[in-house]
Amino acid sequence: MNRYAIAVLPGDGIGPEVTAEAVRVLRAVAELHGFSIETAQYAVGAAGVAQSGDSLPPRTAAAVRDAHAVLLGAVGHPSLATAEGRRRPEAGLLALRKLLGAYANLRPVVLHPALGHASPLRPDRLEGVDMLIVRELLGGLYSGQPRSLAADAAVNTMRYTAPEIERVARVAFDTARVRRRTVTSVDKANVLEVSQLWRETVTRVAQEYPDVTLEHLYVDYAAMRLVANPAAIDVLLAENLFGDILSDEAAVLTGSLGLLPSASIGDGPGLFEPVHGSAPDIAGKGVANPLGAIASAAMLLRHGLAEAEAAARVEQAVAEVLAAGARTPDIARPGERSVGTREMGEKVVREVMAGREVAR
Ligand code: IPM
Ligand code: MN
Repeated sequence: MNRYAIAVLPGDGIGPEVTAEAVRVLRAVAELHGFSIETAQYAVGAAGVAQSGDSLPPRTAAAVRDAHAVLLGAVGHPSLATAEGRRRPEAGLLALRKLLGAYANLRPVVLHPALGHASPLRPDRLEGVDMLIVRELLGGLYSGQPRSLAADAAVNTMRYTAPEIERVARVAFDTARVRRRTVTSVDKANVLEVSQLWRETVTRVAQEYPDVTLEHLYVDYAAMRLVANPAAIDVLLAENLFGDILSDEAAVLTGSLGLLPSASIGDGPGLFEPVHGSAPDIAGKGVANPLGAIASAAMLLRHGLAEAEAAARVEQAVAEVLAAGARTPDIARPGERSVGTREMGEKVVREVMAGREVAR
């Protein structure tokens, strides 16, 4: 029997509530598919600062490297919004990505048919939306040197090397091969040298993938295209900050940030987390939507543990629970009955277990 060690980093705000449900789902599907999940919890973000004064405590840093995969809730706390250095909760997340060598961030944007009403876009524009954003996660303005802040001037540097671009481009082309075989690469090559290198390098990598179509879009036009014709996009490849911005824009299409998962993969164990933040306004109330965390657990199964069947079962269970009408407040229509975090998690567990006969 395969045994997997999962480092669970609940983090801040609603993080602990939503990861608890994701872990319950992982246990259920593991039992069903005949592997075992061992979880251990570690602090990150404001919880890390509370524990050790560091948003990525040394104990957490040591543990994640030995895990098969890392499941994270969310980081961020209002009391530390202006904290500096490693006391910033977000700094812990950035350090964690770096530590794991997680250079490719995968953010699938899929529309659940039952939730069309929650989207700000007209239903006819949403038909067929199924895209994967591949965001470079370590380089660019987030880490480029020099960087500085003085009283009257500040500097950040968008720097990329060709190998950094190549490795994330390969992730995009490899995933496009098992999707609709189109990569849309985003840059600002009409202005930025770093984007010219990006475009050249992606074009060169594309030659290894003659079966995949590559198109290049300037980032401003890509932002427009995301709302004007989102269904036409299959795999969207972008550098760190462009990808950060475009993935929030794309998330809105689905109607709820609470549903979206992400996987950050690279040299070490993968890091899996919902796209939403710590939502301090609803933390501890048991009303947060756990489906983003549960869908992240599905990505963990697929990309982190190569348990593709178990991943598909979890995704199917989420789709069925939504189709059956279960709604946390963030996706309920006005006046519609809603369920809490725990109840939503339980419904997914039950749906997963309902497949028991089929699995055996
Ligand atoms: C994200 C977040 C992070 C980022 C923040 C919290 C540092 O916005 O995961 O998209 O900018 O990468
Ligand atoms: Mn972001």
